[in-house]
Amino acid sequence: MTTPATYDEFKRLNMRLDMSRGKPSPEQLDLSRALIDEAGTAGFMSRDGIDCRNYGHVLGLPEAREFGAQLLDVDAAQVVAAGNSSLELMHDALVFAMLHGVSDRVSDHAPWSRQGEVALLCPVPGYDRHFAICEALGICMIAVPMTQDGPDMDAIEALVKRDASVKGIWCMPLYSNPSGAIWSRATIERLAAMPTAANDFRLFWDDAYRFHHLTDTRHATPDIIELCEQAGHADRALVFASLSKVTLAGGGVAFLASSRRNVGWWQRHASIRTIGPDKLNQLRHVRYLRDREGLERLMAKHRALLRPKFDAVVAEFDTLLADVPDVSWNRPEGGYFISLYAPKGHAKRTVALAADAGLVLTPAGAAYPYGRDDEDRHLRIAPSFPSLDEVTLAARGIALSLRRALEEGAASATR
Ligand SMILES: Cc1ncc(COP(=O)(O)O)c(C=O)c1O
Repeated sequence: MTTPATYDEFKRLNMRLDMSRGKPSPEQLDLSRALIDEAGTAGFMSRDGIDCRNYGHVLGLPEAREFGAQLLDVDAAQVVAAGNSSLELMHDALVFAMLHGVSDRVSDHAPWSRQGEVALLCPVPGYDRHFAICEALGICMIAVPMTQDGPDMDAIEALVKRDASVKGIWCMPLYSNPSGAIWSRATIERLAAMPTAANDFRLFWDDAYRFHHLTDTRHATPDIIELCEQAGHADRALVFASLSKVTLAGGGVAFLASSRRNVGWWQRHASIRTIGPDKLNQLRHVRYLRDREGLERLMAKHRALLRPKFDAVVAEFDTLLADVPDVSWNRPEGGYFISLYAPKGHAKRTVALAADAGLVLTPAGAAYPYGRDDEDRHLRIAPSFPSLDEVTLAARGIALSLRRALEEGAASATR
């Protein structure tokens, strides 16, 4: 295939590719084939003699909770091992907060939904599905700007101090989606310690990319649960993580970690919702991954598949966009996304031009609450799913679409 040098040449290739979501590739899913192939022989009796085929254990299989505890550096009593999706846990945590309040004692805090309008702070750019949960539940969203060290803490401290309707904040401390930010210790300490007008304030700590390194440096962020406890806010953090991008995106195990009191709160409400999670899948995962080293060995294989794709995107942008003023992109050290910033007012048009050429990108604005990127600058690039050849071509196509959007803008300005 010839390498396109212009947008029109790219369009003539008639590409058919959907890069809108950060999904693992089939090759990545194949890494955990044993989970499927050996499902029949993995057995169903747990270490402690629990028949995993049956109902029960709403907080998860004990060895799955212990495994989660090892991954999240907390005690097993502070961990819930659940179904496949951490997003589902975040959704449920917010539903429980809205319907029942955040305390394990009914009398402590009123349900959020009975406290008038409530809001969550949303560092931007952020994860569109977080924002979709807020929208679905009628929780207002207040955007706060991000830096590569985490969100603007001065803005956050000012907002939470004066306004009791601000009930929480979305946090992605490591390799944030989609900025790749690694939140600094200072930022995290301030989040743990800051005074809040709401006494039922929560950090929704989405540690989705905790093990998803793209370089030799295995970055880690400080333990938020411990920091909150030290600051006298033991129940402030709800930590979410999953094995979705470790084993099978649609068939992993999700974890919630928090204070013991919050685990009690969770149990009270979750046990109305279910008689227990899929313990067979939890057992298979513990037997397959074994321990944290087992997980990290597997993550190294993911990295070997992912890294060249990220490098290819960055290399194409370096080649085709380095000379364009007001364009920038990041080189993430982990996670699943690259953020590309177009000059003001050109993101939507770039996405539309790419779509005309057969390349589907995440809608411009998706990384902002209510889909509103006021500057129309941000594009979320998800290099993981396509093959290396496809992603290289797609990155070129994105760069050529952006250049075409700028040419159109310049032409209409001179008309
Ligand atoms: C930041 C973040 N959180 C959560 C998820 C979804 O996690 P899960 O598969 O555990 O529901 C994703 C998926 O892309 C994500 O990027």
